[in-house]
Amino acid sequence: MESQNIYILGIESSCDDTAAAIIHNGKILSNVVANQQIHQEYGGVVPELASRAHQQNIVPVVQQAIAKANIDKKQLNAIAFTRGPGLMGSLLVGTSFAKSLALGLDIPLIDVNHMQAHILAHFIEEEGFEKPNFPFLAMTISGGHTQIVKVTSHFEMEVIGETIDDAVGEAFDKSGKILGLPYPAGPIIDKYAKEGNPKAFPFPKPNVKGLNFSFSGLKTAILYFIQKKQKEDPNFVEENIKDICASIQHTIINILIDKLKKATKETGIKEIAIGGGVSANSGIRNALKEGERKYHWKTHIPKFEYTTDNAAMIAIVGYLKYLENDFVGSGVTASARLKI
Ligand code: KG4
Ligand code: ZN
Repeated sequence: MESQNIYILGIESSCDDTAAAIIHNGKILSNVVANQQIHQEYGGVVPELASRAHQQNIVPVVQQAIAKANIDKKQLNAIAFTRGPGLMGSLLVGTSFAKSLALGLDIPLIDVNHMQAHILAHFIEEEGFEKPNFPFLAMTISGGHTQIVKVTSHFEMEVIGETIDDAVGEAFDKSGKILGLPYPAGPIIDKYAKEGNPKAFPFPKPNVKGLNFSFSGLKTAILYFIQKKQKEDPNFVEENIKDICASIQHTIINILIDKLKKATKETGIKEIAIGGGVSANSGIRNALKEGERKYHWKTHIPKFEYTTDNAAMIAIVGYLKYLENDFVGSGVTASARLKI
Protein backbone atom coordinates (compact mmCIF):
# COMPACT_ATOMS: atom_id res chain seq x y z
CA MET A 1 0.00 0.00 0.00
CA GLU A 2 2.78 2.41 0.98
CA SER A 3 4.05 2.51 -2.58
CA GLN A 4 0.65 3.76 -3.74
CA ASN A 5 1.28 7.46 -3.05
CA ILE A 6 -2.11 8.54 -1.74
CA TYR A 7 -2.83 12.22 -1.16
CA ILE A 8 -6.04 13.16 0.68
CA LEU A 9 -7.42 16.58 1.53
CA GLY A 10 -9.32 16.67 4.84
CA ILE A 11 -11.82 19.42 5.63
CA GLU A 12 -13.28 20.14 9.08
CA SER A 13 -16.01 22.71 9.81
CA SER A 14 -18.23 21.17 12.49
CA CYS A 15 -18.04 23.90 15.10
CA ASP A 16 -16.04 27.14 15.20
CA ASP A 17 -12.75 26.13 13.56
CA THR A 18 -12.33 26.07 9.81
CA ALA A 19 -9.58 23.56 9.05
CA ALA A 20 -7.91 21.81 6.13
CA ALA A 21 -5.05 19.30 6.03
CA ILE A 22 -3.20 17.19 3.49
CA ILE A 23 -2.13 13.66 4.37
CA HIS A 24 0.25 11.56 2.28
CA ASN A 25 0.25 7.82 3.03
CA GLY A 26 -0.75 8.45 6.64
CA LYS A 27 1.73 11.30 7.25
CA ILE A 28 0.53 14.88 7.65
CA LEU A 29 2.04 17.34 5.15
CA SER A 30 0.02 20.38 6.25
CA ASN A 31 -2.52 21.16 8.95
CA VAL A 32 -4.15 24.60 8.78
CA VAL A 33 -6.72 25.89 11.27
CA ALA A 34 -8.49 29.25 11.23
CA ASN A 35 -9.90 29.94 14.69
CA GLN A 36 -12.90 32.20 14.97
CA GLN A 37 -12.12 34.93 17.51
CA ILE A 38 -15.58 36.45 17.02
CA HIS A 39 -17.20 34.11 19.61
CA GLN A 40 -15.00 35.31 22.47
CA GLU A 41 -17.06 38.41 23.11
CA TYR A 42 -20.22 36.31 23.39
CA GLY A 43 -18.75 33.81 25.86
CA GLY A 44 -19.54 30.85 23.62
CA VAL A 45 -20.01 29.77 20.01
CA VAL A 46 -22.78 31.62 18.12
CA PRO A 47 -23.93 29.25 15.35
CA GLU A 48 -24.93 31.92 12.78
CA LEU A 49 -21.61 33.72 13.17
CA ALA A 50 -19.71 30.43 12.95
CA SER A 51 -21.36 29.53 9.68
CA ARG A 52 -20.61 32.94 8.17
CA ALA A 53 -16.97 32.81 9.28
CA HIS A 54 -16.59 29.32 7.74
CA GLN A 55 -17.81 30.71 4.42
CA GLN A 56 -15.18 33.43 4.58
CA ASN A 57 -12.36 31.11 5.71
CA ILE A 58 -12.83 27.92 3.77
CA VAL A 59 -11.27 28.89 0.44
CA PRO A 60 -8.11 30.51 1.88
CA VAL A 61 -7.70 27.70 4.44
CA VAL A 62 -7.87 24.96 1.78
CA GLN A 63 -5.56 26.93 -0.51
CA GLN A 64 -3.04 27.30 2.31
CA ALA A 65 -3.18 23.60 3.16
CA ILE A 66 -2.44 22.69 -0.46
CA ALA A 67 0.33 25.30 -0.74
CA LYS A 68 1.98 24.27 2.55
CA ALA A 69 1.94 20.62 1.50
CA ASN A 70 3.75 21.72 -1.63
CA ILE A 71 1.49 19.76 -3.95
CA ASP A 72 -0.86 20.60 -6.78
CA LYS A 73 -4.58 20.00 -6.24
CA LYS A 74 -4.49 17.73 -9.28
CA GLN A 75 -2.40 15.28 -7.21
CA LEU A 76 -5.24 14.75 -4.71
CA ASN A 77 -6.74 11.25 -4.73
CA ALA A 78 -9.82 12.05 -2.64
CA ILE A 79 -11.48 14.63 -0.42
CA ALA A 80 -12.59 13.78 3.10
CA PHE A 81 -14.96 16.05 5.01
CA THR A 82 -16.73 16.13 8.38
CA ARG A 83 -20.31 15.03 7.85
CA GLY A 84 -21.28 15.35 11.53
CA PRO A 85 -21.93 15.61 14.39
CA GLY A 86 -21.83 19.38 14.85
CA LEU A 87 -23.64 22.62 14.12
CA MET A 88 -25.76 22.24 10.97
CA GLY A 89 -24.89 25.64 9.51
CA SER A 90 -21.19 24.99 10.03
CA LEU A 91 -21.24 21.44 8.68
CA LEU A 92 -23.07 22.56 5.55
CA VAL A 93 -20.23 24.89 4.54
CA GLY A 94 -17.58 22.14 4.64
CA THR A 95 -19.88 19.54 3.12
CA SER A 96 -20.92 21.65 0.13
CA PHE A 97 -17.38 22.86 -0.46
CA ALA A 98 -15.99 19.29 -0.35
CA LYS A 99 -18.68 18.07 -2.73
CA SER A 100 -18.09 20.73 -5.33
CA LEU A 101 -14.30 20.43 -5.18
CA ALA A 102 -14.49 16.63 -5.55
CA LEU A 103 -16.84 17.07 -8.48
CA GLY A 104 -14.58 19.67 -10.08
CA LEU A 105 -11.47 17.51 -9.68
CA ASP A 106 -13.38 14.33 -10.52
CA ILE A 107 -12.10 12.44 -7.48
CA PRO A 108 -13.94 10.43 -4.80
CA LEU A 109 -15.57 11.92 -1.74
CA ILE A 110 -15.20 10.43 1.76
CA ASP A 111 -17.53 11.27 4.64
CA VAL A 112 -16.06 11.37 8.14
CA ASN A 113 -17.65 11.17 11.57
CA HIS A 114 -16.04 13.89 13.71
CA MET A 115 -16.08 11.74 16.86
CA GLN A 116 -14.42 8.80 15.11
CA ALA A 117 -11.86 11.24 13.79
CA HIS A 118 -10.91 12.44 17.29
CA ILE A 119 -10.16 8.80 18.08
CA LEU A 120 -8.43 7.86 14.83
CA ALA A 121 -6.14 10.91 15.14
CA HIS A 122 -3.98 8.49 17.14
CA PHE A 123 -3.23 6.65 13.88
CA ILE A 124 -1.48 9.56 12.17
CA GLU A 125 2.13 8.58 11.44
CA GLU A 126 4.11 10.76 13.84
CA GLU A 127 7.61 10.34 15.17
CA GLY A 128 7.71 9.77 18.92
CA PHE A 129 4.06 8.71 19.10
CA GLU A 130 3.04 5.09 19.39
CA LYS A 131 -0.30 4.02 17.91
CA PRO A 132 -2.76 2.35 20.29
CA ASN A 133 -3.28 -1.42 20.04
CA PHE A 134 -6.78 -2.83 19.63
CA PRO A 135 -8.91 -3.10 21.64
CA PHE A 136 -8.49 0.18 23.52
CA LEU A 137 -10.65 2.71 25.31
CA ALA A 138 -10.88 6.21 23.86
CA MET A 139 -12.00 9.12 25.98
CA THR A 140 -12.97 12.19 23.97
CA ILE A 141 -13.07 15.31 26.11
CA SER A 142 -13.71 18.74 24.63
CA GLY A 143 -16.05 21.71 24.59
CA GLY A 144 -18.55 19.69 22.60
CA HIS A 145 -17.98 16.09 23.68
CA THR A 146 -17.42 13.75 26.60
CA GLN A 147 -17.46 10.07 25.65
CA ILE A 148 -15.80 6.80 26.52
CA VAL A 149 -15.62 4.59 23.46
CA LYS A 150 -14.55 0.97 23.18
CA VAL A 151 -12.50 0.72 19.99
CA THR A 152 -12.15 -2.78 18.54
CA SER A 153 -10.80 -1.84 15.12
CA HIS A 154 -10.48 1.32 13.01
CA PHE A 155 -14.18 1.33 12.25
CA GLU A 156 -15.69 -0.83 15.00
CA MET A 157 -16.45 1.48 17.89
CA GLU A 158 -19.01 1.42 20.66
CA VAL A 159 -19.89 4.35 22.91
CA ILE A 160 -19.98 2.88 26.42
CA GLY A 161 -20.37 6.16 28.32
CA GLU A 162 -21.20 9.78 27.58
CA THR A 163 -22.41 12.97 29.17
CA ILE A 164 -26.09 13.34 29.83
CA ASP A 165 -25.86 17.16 29.87
CA ASP A 166 -22.82 19.47 29.52
CA ALA A 167 -19.53 18.43 27.95
CA VAL A 168 -16.48 18.53 30.20
CA GLY A 169 -14.99 21.53 28.35
CA GLU A 170 -18.27 23.35 28.94
CA ALA A 171 -17.93 22.56 32.64
CA PHE A 172 -14.56 24.35 32.59
CA ASP A 173 -15.82 27.23 30.45
CA LYS A 174 -19.09 27.80 32.35
CA SER A 175 -17.31 27.62 35.71
CA GLY A 176 -14.86 30.19 34.37
CA LYS A 177 -17.72 32.42 33.29
CA ILE A 178 -19.09 32.37 36.85
CA LEU A 179 -15.64 33.45 38.04
CA GLY A 180 -15.52 36.25 35.46
CA LEU A 181 -12.82 34.59 33.33
CA PRO A 182 -12.81 35.06 29.54
CA TYR A 183 -13.93 32.33 27.10
CA PRO A 184 -12.62 29.66 26.74
CA ALA A 185 -11.75 29.47 30.43
CA GLY A 186 -10.37 25.89 30.42
CA PRO A 187 -6.70 26.82 29.84
CA ILE A 188 -6.90 29.70 32.36
CA ILE A 189 -8.40 27.50 35.07
CA ASP A 190 -5.62 24.99 34.35
CA LYS A 191 -2.99 27.72 34.78
CA TYR A 192 -4.38 28.98 38.11
CA ALA A 193 -4.99 25.42 39.31
CA LYS A 194 -1.26 24.68 39.15
CA GLU A 195 -0.67 27.17 41.97
CA GLY A 196 -3.76 26.45 44.07
CA ASN A 197 -4.88 23.94 46.67
CA PRO A 198 -7.15 21.33 45.04
CA LYS A 199 -8.71 20.44 48.38
CA ALA A 200 -9.49 24.03 49.46
CA PHE A 201 -13.16 23.92 48.49
CA PRO A 202 -14.82 20.52 48.11
CA PHE A 203 -17.49 20.44 45.39
CA PRO A 204 -20.00 17.60 45.13
CA LYS A 205 -19.50 14.82 42.60
CA PRO A 206 -22.59 13.76 40.65
CA ASN A 207 -24.08 10.35 41.11
CA VAL A 208 -24.65 9.10 37.57
CA LYS A 209 -25.30 5.49 36.67
CA GLY A 210 -22.89 3.33 34.72
CA LEU A 211 -20.24 5.02 32.65
CA ASN A 212 -22.21 8.19 31.89
CA PHE A 213 -21.19 11.66 33.01
CA SER A 214 -23.02 14.74 34.24
CA PHE A 215 -21.55 18.21 34.73
CA SER A 216 -24.52 20.54 34.99
CA GLY A 217 -24.93 19.98 38.76
CA LEU A 218 -21.34 20.97 39.39
CA LYS A 219 -21.86 24.24 37.53
CA THR A 220 -24.89 25.05 39.71
CA ALA A 221 -23.02 24.07 42.88
CA ILE A 222 -20.16 26.41 41.94
CA LEU A 223 -22.59 29.24 41.15
CA TYR A 224 -24.35 29.00 44.53
CA PHE A 225 -21.05 28.61 46.37
CA ILE A 226 -19.58 31.74 44.75
CA GLN A 227 -22.76 33.77 45.28
CA LYS A 228 -22.80 32.83 48.97
CA LYS A 229 -19.12 33.59 49.50
CA GLN A 230 -19.33 36.89 47.66
CA LYS A 231 -22.10 38.04 49.96
CA GLU A 232 -19.72 37.54 52.88
CA ASP A 233 -16.73 39.03 51.06
CA PRO A 234 -17.10 40.83 47.70
CA ASN A 235 -13.42 40.13 46.91
CA PHE A 236 -13.72 36.39 47.55
CA VAL A 237 -13.08 35.36 43.94
CA GLU A 238 -10.06 37.62 43.39
CA GLU A 239 -8.51 36.61 46.71
CA ASN A 240 -9.01 32.87 46.21
CA ILE A 241 -8.91 32.41 42.46
CA LYS A 242 -6.06 29.87 42.51
CA ASP A 243 -7.66 27.68 45.17
CA ILE A 244 -11.09 27.92 43.52
CA CYS A 245 -9.67 26.89 40.13
CA ALA A 246 -7.62 24.06 41.64
CA SER A 247 -10.70 22.77 43.46
CA ILE A 248 -12.89 22.93 40.34
CA GLN A 249 -10.26 21.20 38.22
CA HIS A 250 -9.68 18.54 40.88
CA THR A 251 -13.41 17.74 40.98
CA ILE A 252 -13.75 17.56 37.18
CA ILE A 253 -10.67 15.35 36.78
CA ASN A 254 -11.88 13.05 39.55
CA ILE A 255 -15.20 12.63 37.76
CA LEU A 256 -13.40 11.65 34.54
CA ILE A 257 -10.89 9.32 36.19
CA ASP A 258 -13.53 7.54 38.30
CA LYS A 259 -15.46 6.58 35.16
CA LEU A 260 -12.30 5.62 33.33
CA LYS A 261 -11.36 3.30 36.21
CA LYS A 262 -14.82 1.79 36.07
CA ALA A 263 -14.57 1.32 32.30
CA THR A 264 -11.20 -0.45 32.54
CA LYS A 265 -12.61 -2.76 35.21
CA GLU A 266 -15.77 -3.56 33.25
CA THR A 267 -14.06 -4.15 29.91
CA GLY A 268 -10.75 -5.51 31.13
CA ILE A 269 -9.07 -3.10 28.70
CA LYS A 270 -6.15 -1.12 30.14
CA GLU A 271 -5.00 0.75 27.06
CA ILE A 272 -6.44 4.29 26.99
CA ALA A 273 -6.25 7.01 24.35
CA ILE A 274 -7.59 10.51 24.98
CA GLY A 275 -8.49 13.29 22.58
CA GLY A 276 -10.27 16.67 22.43
CA GLY A 277 -9.21 20.08 23.70
CA VAL A 278 -9.42 19.14 27.39
CA SER A 279 -6.65 16.55 26.93
CA ALA A 280 -4.30 19.55 27.12
CA ASN A 281 -5.24 19.87 30.79
CA SER A 282 -2.31 19.26 33.16
CA GLY A 283 -4.60 17.61 35.74
CA ILE A 284 -5.83 14.92 33.34
CA ARG A 285 -2.29 14.33 32.07
CA ASN A 286 -0.98 13.81 35.60
CA ALA A 287 -3.92 11.58 36.49
CA LEU A 288 -3.24 9.37 33.46
CA LYS A 289 0.44 9.08 34.38
CA GLU A 290 -0.61 8.08 37.86
CA GLY A 291 -2.93 5.47 36.31
CA GLU A 292 0.06 4.02 34.48
CA ARG A 293 1.89 3.59 37.77
CA LYS A 294 -1.03 2.56 39.96
CA TYR A 295 -3.20 0.49 37.63
CA HIS A 296 -0.74 -0.52 34.89
CA TRP A 297 -2.62 1.46 32.25
CA LYS A 298 -1.00 2.25 28.95
CA THR A 299 -2.04 5.75 27.93
CA HIS A 300 -1.84 7.78 24.71
CA ILE A 301 -2.13 11.54 24.36
CA PRO A 302 -1.82 12.78 20.78
CA LYS A 303 0.24 15.73 19.61
CA PHE A 304 -1.63 18.87 20.70
CA GLU A 305 -2.47 20.07 17.18
CA TYR A 306 -4.23 16.75 16.49
CA THR A 307 -6.25 16.85 19.68
CA THR A 308 -8.28 20.08 19.41
CA ASP A 309 -10.60 20.36 16.41
CA ASN A 310 -8.44 20.01 13.29
CA ALA A 311 -8.52 18.57 9.78
CA ALA A 312 -5.51 16.26 10.14
CA MET A 313 -7.80 13.87 12.02
CA ILE A 314 -10.33 14.10 9.19
CA ALA A 315 -7.57 13.41 6.66
CA ILE A 316 -6.32 10.28 8.49
CA VAL A 317 -9.85 8.85 8.52
CA GLY A 318 -10.04 9.75 4.82
CA TYR A 319 -6.83 7.82 4.21
CA LEU A 320 -7.99 4.76 6.17
CA LYS A 321 -11.34 4.75 4.34
CA TYR A 322 -9.61 5.29 0.99
CA LEU A 323 -7.64 2.09 1.56
CA GLU A 324 -10.98 0.30 1.96
CA ASN A 325 -12.58 2.00 -1.06
CA ASP A 326 -15.18 3.46 1.27
CA PHE A 327 -16.56 6.43 -0.68
CA VAL A 328 -19.85 8.36 -0.78
CA GLY A 329 -21.81 9.82 -3.67
CA SER A 330 -22.48 13.52 -4.15
CA GLY A 331 -25.99 13.01 -2.72
CA VAL A 332 -24.50 12.78 0.79
CA THR A 333 -25.86 15.33 3.30
CA ALA A 334 -24.50 16.79 6.53
CA SER A 335 -25.85 15.23 9.71
CA ALA A 336 -25.82 17.32 12.90
CA ARG A 337 -26.51 14.35 15.17
CA LEU A 338 -24.45 11.70 13.44
CA LYS A 339 -23.62 8.84 15.84
CA ILE A 340 -20.45 6.77 16.08
O1 KG4 B 1 -11.41 20.24 21.03
P1 KG4 B 1 -11.67 21.68 21.23
O2 KG4 B 1 -10.66 22.66 20.75
O3 KG4 B 1 -13.02 22.10 20.56
C1 KG4 B 1 -14.22 21.46 20.78
O4 KG4 B 1 -14.89 21.86 21.75
O5 KG4 B 1 -14.56 20.52 20.04
O6 KG4 B 1 -11.90 21.89 22.80
C2 KG4 B 1 -12.10 23.15 23.36
C3 KG4 B 1 -12.36 22.97 24.84
C4 KG4 B 1 -12.79 24.27 25.52
O7 KG4 B 1 -13.89 23.99 26.34
C5 KG4 B 1 -11.56 24.64 26.36
O8 KG4 B 1 -11.86 25.36 27.50
C6 KG4 B 1 -11.00 23.28 26.67
O9 KG4 B 1 -11.17 22.53 25.50
N1 KG4 B 1 -9.57 23.33 27.04
C7 KG4 B 1 -9.11 23.05 28.28
C8 KG4 B 1 -7.71 23.23 28.24
N2 KG4 B 1 -7.36 23.59 26.98
C9 KG4 B 1 -8.51 23.64 26.25
N3 KG4 B 1 -9.77 22.68 29.38
C10 KG4 B 1 -9.04 22.49 30.49
N4 KG4 B 1 -7.70 22.63 30.54
C11 KG4 B 1 -6.99 23.00 29.46
N5 KG4 B 1 -5.67 23.13 29.52
ZN1 ZN C 1 -14.26 17.99 18.35
